[in-house]
Amino acid sequence: MEPLLEDTRPSVFLPQHVTLLLTALGVYLMSTWIYNLYFHPLAGFPGSKIAAASGLYEFYYDVVKKGQYLYKIEEMHRQYGPIVRINPYEIVINDPSYYNEVYVTSNTRRTSLWPAYRSGVGFDDCHLLTEDHHLHRRRRKPLEPFFSRIGIIRMEETIISEAKSLNNRLEGLKGSSSVICLDHVFTAFAADVIAEVCYGSPSKMMTKDEFGADCAIHPDTAAGSMMTQRVEQAQRESAETRVREKPTLFRHIMTSDMPASEQSVERLTNEAMAIFGGATGTTPHALALISYYILSNQEIRERLGEELAPLMSDYPDNPPKSTDLEKLPYLQAIIKEGLRLSYGVMRRLPRRSPDVALQYKQWTIPKGTPVGMGAYSLHTNSDVYPEPFDFIPERWLGAYDPRMNESWVPFSRGSRKCLGSKYEPIHPLYFAHGLVWCQSTNKKWQSSNG
Ligand code: HEM
Repeated sequence: MEPLLEDTRPSVFLPQHVTLLLTALGVYLMSTWIYNLYFHPLAGFPGSKIAAASGLYEFYYDVVKKGQYLYKIEEMHRQYGPIVRINPYEIVINDPSYYNEVYVTSNTRRTSLWPAYRSGVGFDDCHLLTEDHHLHRRRRKPLEPFFSRIGIIRMEETIISEAKSLNNRLEGLKGSSSVICLDHVFTAFAADVIAEVCYGSPSKMMTKDEFGADCAIHPDTAAGSMMTQRVEQAQRESAETRVREKPTLFRHIMTSDMPASEQSVERLTNEAMAIFGGATGTTPHALALISYYILSNQEIRERLGEELAPLMSDYPDNPPKSTDLEKLPYLQAIIKEGLRLSYGVMRRLPRRSPDVALQYKQWTIPKGTPVGMGAYSLHTNSDVYPEPFDFIPERWLGAYDPRMNESWVPFSRGSRKCLGSKYEPIHPLYFAHGLVWCQSTNKKWQSSNG
């Protein structure tokens, strides 16, 4: 039907408005690109012009090509040298001798985060995502005793008991033709251990179907609301009795001198997420990768079996301690090589020096500039690690090139290094237990003593 009255009001957007908008946008973009290329404080740094002009280049490789910028940065280093500007704001350096200058301890100088690199992960205001140096220190400090050497030894009983549960669960699956994804197995294992540490009771992931594979750690998931409940419970417990027989991380935080504003349920849930994410995001990957190389290589299996056999002879009644396992050079070499090839975090971890400029060779990097170094580049440098993509534990035995330790950074370094890095000696423990299972499922794996 024809409208009775014709609408004579002018359209809000006339073609000339669109043209005007596009022109304004074009002028804005052009002037930003010109500023970034010729007037920005980082304008004189080496690197590709297209990367320096805007964030679009990085967006293309990381979003459209799904995380490929890392490899593009590698190409940039080959073309422009060890220091490159990878977008308008950031510098990346590929030189192990400079690592300790970027990732410094808190008594050397302040270090702040580059928030753009972290925003959107959903755990805001946990210590991992805290931008300011002093606030980060305040939030991290009460956590440190739990992950110190003594804290780890206190955890050992928990780990042994969880490892036994793991072996039992795997034993139960033997002969069932189930395909087991080791990533899920080790994630469940790490989650149960860390839940014990944080709350004093396991999350029972190891008892779940598929080892709780669908249980994503995010505030909006079931895991998120479970963590909120656990934090609330810890809050009630700490109000009832100030000192508990079995200290847990969250009871400790709640009885610490942290201001009440820092102890809200919401913030502590985010803290729990970060700790669970830290423990379950990296450790399982390293363990699954190492397991793969052990299981697929008979020579490695046999050599490790022989080294482990004396300590495992009385398992499970008398399980080995981490302090014994730490003394096994081949096991240690396997772990170091596994951490090298699983990288920790592959990508650059940008840090800012808010008070002083950094000097790298002839380059003065203005204070506040995000500067990152990536474990992937350092761990795959063929000058330092010949045949870098091969799993060769033997490279860590005997008198090896000291540059290998300098370039080995799976836990990062400095004031924001991995809170769980002292877990490193505990990995053997995870392993020895996992290997018991391998041993019992594969007769060839039996050591000459067994
Ligand atoms: C193979 C094992 C692990 C590797 C390779 C690893 C790697 C890393 C790396 C590279 C960082 C630095 C991230 C950054 O600079 O932004 C980090 C931070 C962190 N990791 Fe781990 N991690 C491991 C195990 C653990 C475990 C078991 C925990 C459990 C407590 C943990 C908790 C954390 C936390 C809370 C942080 C943040 C530290 C801070 O910002 O002060 N990680 N980890």
